[in-house]
Amino acid sequence: MTTDVAIRVEGIEKSFKDLHVLRGVEFTVEAGSIFALLGSNGAGKTTLVRILATLLTADAGAASVNGHDVGSAPEAVRQAISLTGQFAAVDEVLSGRENLVLVAKLRHLKDPGAVADAMLERFSLTEAGGRRAGTYSGGMKRRLDIAMSLIGDPPVIVLDEPTTGLDPQARKEVWQTVQGLARNGTTVLLTTQYLDEAEQLADRIAILHQGVIIQNGTLTELKKLLPSATVEYVEKQPSLEDVFLALVGETSADNGPAEDGALAGKEIR
Ligand SMILES: Nc1ncnc2c1ncn2[C@@H]1O[C@H](COP(=O)(O)OP(=O)(O)O)[C@@H](O)[C@H]1O
Ligand SMILES: [Mg+2]
Repeated sequence: MTTDVAIRVEGIEKSFKDLHVLRGVEFTVEAGSIFALLGSNGAGKTTLVRILATLLTADAGAASVNGHDVGSAPEAVRQAISLTGQFAAVDEVLSGRENLVLVAKLRHLKDPGAVADAMLERFSLTEAGGRRAGTYSGGMKRRLDIAMSLIGDPPVIVLDEPTTGLDPQARKEVWQTVQGLARNGTTVLLTTQYLDEAEQLADRIAILHQGVIIQNGTLTELKKLLPSATVEYVEKQPSLEDVFLALVGETSADNGPAEDGALAGKEIR
């Protein structure tokens, strides 16, 4: 059956002049799952998601979203997919609610105000809804961004590096949001350069390296690729992130200012 495949990518190639960024990328994403595309900076993650969202045309290969081919049925693909870019698309001058109303109007939905209020509620932004989005913390801004991209209920959502530049608490908030989406049946494709993010969130992880998927599997499968560590009698030390979160609490970021991710998780380079 092909009905439970939400995203299919087959032999996708893309070059920018002499730069052969994607060299035959292949993977499928099961409907209702969270799939992480892991790759270092410049690996081609954004290029691939732009092809899936029909913003860019591939040089070779095929891709489909909910059974619709990106090349021959771009309109149907755009109906099925929502892309949240690497850099928050939130208008900082508008309030959170106004941002949501704007998107609901662009999508020609009935009663944009009610749609906006439901989204504020779902993303725990009701209290902050009337406030200018420019005053939001990094995590709140990203949650608003995700809420905006969910207006109209697309079955497939693509999050391009949803937590890059966020502090640890904000990352946790976004992770919880993403887990909530999958619980509601939305298919989530996320790109990340953070190992711990893929580890925390994804049902399957694919590693994009030098233009191809070099590994694709569940976390357990990927871990089996390495020999297991020898057991030694050493106490497990908490990570810096554990300590930081324990000290500052996990919810206090909501009213605080946005911060850079100086203490965020491991990056691959
Ligand atoms: N429009 C473009 N024109 C030329 N080069 C590009 C363009 N878009 C991306 N690239 C290059 O393609 C490579 C992959 O970029 P990108 O897909 O943004 O990587 P990632 O999202 O994994 O960091 C990079 O070397 C980048 O400079
Ligand atoms: Mg990118």
